[in-house]
Amino acid sequence: MAYETILLERKGAVAVIRVNRPDKLNAMNTRVKEEITHALGEIERDDAARVAVITGVGEKAFIAGADINEFAGRKPIDQWQSYGHTSLYNVVDRFPKPVIAMMNGYALGGGCELAMACDIRVASAKAQLGQPEINIGIIPGGGGSQRLPRLVGLGKALEMILTGDRISAQEAHRIGLVDEVFPPEELEARTMEIAEKIASKSPVAVRIAKAAVKASANMPLDQGLRHEQSLFSVVFSTEDKEEGVKAFLEKRPAQWKGR
Ligand code: COA
Repeated sequence: MAYETILLERKGAVAVIRVNRPDKLNAMNTRVKEEITHALGEIERDDAARVAVITGVGEKAFIAGADINEFAGRKPIDQWQSYGHTSLYNVVDRFPKPVIAMMNGYALGGGCELAMACDIRVASAKAQLGQPEINIGIIPGGGGSQRLPRLVGLGKALEMILTGDRISAQEAHRIGLVDEVFPPEELEARTMEIAEKIASKSPVAVRIAKAAVKASANMPLDQGLRHEQSLFSVVFSTEDKEEGVKAFLEKRPAQWKGR
């Protein structure tokens, strides 16, 4: 697929997807969503890509939401069909490799929802986050009403979704919506440090660890704990577990095989 609305590059073990509609504040139209989904497929198949980063081109915006132009005149059946079997948000949520949202500016509506589907959220100190759908007479449709309360609690989620107000990166950090805030000029380098650190671990252990933590959102505690025990046992089947333990005992760096 020839990408028209995103840029995809690999920097060592880190694949970076950049939404590239800066004149429209990187608003996601159907094409953007299709291209991100396609790019994630490429990253999944690329064994050398261990971590994905999603960000926006330009100084102003990560993603300022779904492209509002597509909402005019849209019928319920069109909207329902646009979710398809694999909405982008679910593709990101279930992606086997870690995905970091690097919010370089406005992360609004679908942009905030896409970030919430990612595993780690980092933001520029200049970024602003919000669910402003209410201002145009609609509600979040990319998981915001479900993922936001899980991250920040019911009260804050309702405040954001019902007022439509934007919050600063600092406030988002305070309430748990953003994990790290960096000065704008350091955002990319500091994000790459996190991504590269994850990429330096056993890829198979990273995948299983992600699966274990993600399961916590969908399971009661007793089932989740049992599920963790199963995954902990599964990890004992890997060559990387033997290597990691041996390397520790021999006081040398581990050589991961990814299996
Ligand atoms: N969908 C479509 N176009 C969008 C957009 C969106 N979600 N967000 C911004 N744009 C477009 C604007 O229409 C404008 O296009 P134009 O130059 O052709 O008129 C361009 O991006 C720049 O945006 P502008 O509004 O001029 O920038 P600003 O700095 O004055 O304001 C925002 C920035 C983010 C406050 C404002 O763009 C905004 O409120 N956007 C909508 C956010 C939103 O509601 N998202 C959820 C959608 S469900």
